[in-house]
Amino acid sequence: MENVTYSGEKIFDEAKDFLPINGTDYVELFVGNAKQSAHFYKTAFGFQSVAYAGLETGMKDRVSYVLQQDKIRLVLTSPLEEGGEINAHINKHGDGVKVIALWVDDATKAWEETTKRGAESYFEPLIEEDAHGKVVRSGIHTYGETVHIFVERKAYNGAFLPGYQPWKSDYNPSEIGLRYIDHMVGNVGWGEMNKWCEFYAKVMGFAQLVSFDDKDISTEYTALMSKVMSNGTGRIKFPINEPADGRKKSQIEEYIDFYNGAGVQHIAVATNNIIETVAELRARGVEFLRVPDTYYETVLDRVGEIDEDLEPLKQLNILIDRDDEGYLLQIFTKPVLDRPTMFFEIIQRKGAQSFGKGNFKALFEAIEREQELRNTL
Ligand code: FE2
Repeated sequence: MENVTYSGEKIFDEAKDFLPINGTDYVELFVGNAKQSAHFYKTAFGFQSVAYAGLETGMKDRVSYVLQQDKIRLVLTSPLEEGGEINAHINKHGDGVKVIALWVDDATKAWEETTKRGAESYFEPLIEEDAHGKVVRSGIHTYGETVHIFVERKAYNGAFLPGYQPWKSDYNPSEIGLRYIDHMVGNVGWGEMNKWCEFYAKVMGFAQLVSFDDKDISTEYTALMSKVMSNGTGRIKFPINEPADGRKKSQIEEYIDFYNGAGVQHIAVATNNIIETVAELRARGVEFLRVPDTYYETVLDRVGEIDEDLEPLKQLNILIDRDDEGYLLQIFTKPVLDRPTMFFEIIQRKGAQSFGKGNFKALFEAIEREQELRNTL
């Protein structure tokens, strides 16, 4: 395995290559009303209509809409019947991420290697076929009720998966420059961070990129801890957060309370032009966390020179951070659901491979202001 340098350190010596992953294949959310969620992700986030499965395609118990923007593929699934796994998931968690699907060349081997190392099977390797070829999928459980599905699609050229038909829509709002999933963060319960980091290390061969303790991530009131796990190529990055003791209830506890357990906290999506992307998101009604304008009085002292003018960044409330390799621009939406659970991060990397440590305090104070409004601090 080739060593990848992050922040000046070679940290991939321990990353194993028994589980080669090409990238994120799709993210599936179980939602109460997939039709309306699809409309939201098209209108507000610029996702394009790709594929559909439901009553019209012979699916009896559920409906799924597949949306895509560059390399980011979302699947929105709702149940059509009472009872069953999807209803139970929505009842317990509200809308949320069920599946983080990983694109592999061999889904059978991926399942064998991970279950051999202790992963709990979600389903055994399964071959699905239609006129467009064949897909092999398999699945394992991760934190909470979240699962990973391995997708092998080298012998398939259909719209998405067997059973889906292309979704031709007359309503196609333009894309907004979202390109790929940069990282996906999991929130886990008290004292569970190390257990899940070990899971990613042992079962999936990931290595730890970086770790933040409660001294790095705390405000006057709340605290959390975080470790970032990455696969060998660095394409898949999963930070894992757990709450830490503070004077008031941390955002991670609030998430766990409302999600009723561990789950995906945020999906960070990359853009090449964060100013254009965020201006468009705001125009389309997406709401963001806000840091005080005073943030911009000192930010350049901290991060040094940047290519962008500060004024549009300030107007859009985009945050800036720097590490040894460059800088990054980032912003966080408010939760995109009624429960204060999942949100999105928009990120533009200009060399930096880190996660915005310099912004943590300002950000968490912004979240605390929101928690105060929700009476959950
Ligand atoms: Fe993030």
